Amino acid sequence: MVKIAPSMLGADFGSMRKDAKSVASESGYLHMDVMDGHFVPNLTMGSDLVRSLKGIAPLDVHLMITNPSDFIDDFEEAGAEIISVHIEANNPGKALKLIRKKGIKAGIAINPSTPEDAIDTVADDADMILVMSVEPGYCGQSFHESSIQRVQNYKLKYPGKLIEVDGGVSSKNSKQLIEAGADILVAGSAIFNSDDPLDTIRAMKKS
Ligand code: DX5
Ligand code: ZN
Repeated sequence: MVKIAPSMLGADFGSMRKDAKSVASESGYLHMDVMDGHFVPNLTMGSDLVRSLKGIAPLDVHLMITNPSDFIDDFEEAGAEIISVHIEANNPGKALKLIRKKGIKAGIAINPSTPEDAIDTVADDADMILVMSVEPGYCGQSFHESSIQRVQNYKLKYPGKLIEVDGGVSSKNSKQLIEAGADILVAGSAIFNSDDPLDTIRAMKKS
């Protein structure tokens, strides 16, 4: 069964714990978007904010940072159960190995504009492929339809790995993504801007 991971970037930063608790019962993970203002033109959260949500639901940390290897210790200590790093960042292969050494899941994330086979050289060290369905940086962007084919291709090529999809995901495209082979769907604005976040998550799961 597909897991839904609400992106906490779409929640209210002034009531992050309350928002996290309000969706936890239907959430496989809480997705935490870490941006350094360099890899992407936005700054979001660090490991202290991630730690503040530990125990509410499993934490899935998405590092959009230039030098991910420097921060693996911090985010693992903060309680991450999955840490993903970008193939476009510095030395992703080294970062994946560091993550696995901690005994947690390692994800390799890839932007829509990066050729699909760019991850092939590091895939052996990853448990999960994070297919970005928007260019990273902000919540609320529109979904790149070509991501559906990408999910299907990766699932065929790497049947043993989890596939996560992130960016513009909603109940409008969840059915196609699940059919294509997605295991985890991340959604920010679709969940937190809806009148009933729990119901929105249930609708995505059932699609
Ligand atoms: C984009 C982030 C996403 C984003 C998802 O850079 O990685 O996780 O917050 O938000 P929505 O679902 O609104 O696109
Ligand atoms: Zn993300």
